[in-house]
Amino acid sequence: MRAVMDAVEREIAAAVAGRPLDADLIVLSLRYLRDFPEWFHHPREEALFALAIRKDPSREAALAPVMAEHDAQPASNERLLDAFEALAEDGGQPPDDTLTELRRYIEDQRRHMQRENEEIFPVLLAVLDEADWTFEALDIADPLHGTRDPGAFRPLLDRIAVRR
Ligand SMILES: [Fe+2]
Repeated sequence: MRAVMDAVEREIAAAVAGRPLDADLIVLSLRYLRDFPEWFHHPREEALFALAIRKDPSREAALAPVMAEHDAQPASNERLLDAFEALAEDGGQPPDDTLTELRRYIEDQRRHMQRENEEIFPVLLAVLDEADWTFEALDIADPLHGTRDPGAFRPLLDRIAVRR
């Protein structure tokens, strides 16, 4: 996931420097950033969050902002995807406000992941028992790394040549 965000930021930097941006790569990246969390991360994270809140309702305040971010992410992804699908089709450079929104979206994703690692994971570790960490809950491997078949993400993987 970080390799994808790095690749998007390289494209933003290229566009800012006046070089042509690879709109296809941005489209593949945005689809990945939409689908990977929706298919793998969020259902498992949210099952763990719900379990943690059931066990200790006082934790809800700590978990609520991240859950709100999960709800908000699809809308900005969809706006950006529409814009870059059109650019991939028609060519040309994105307007400045679209680039700014893309940069903000990537920054938000990074902040979200950091918050999960630093604030949310410790809460889950404190509240949940060993038995709560089922294999299913832990199976959140990134399809662009390790042994998971990248499936629909293969073209993106080829594109950014993530080392496996
Ligand atoms: Fe998340």
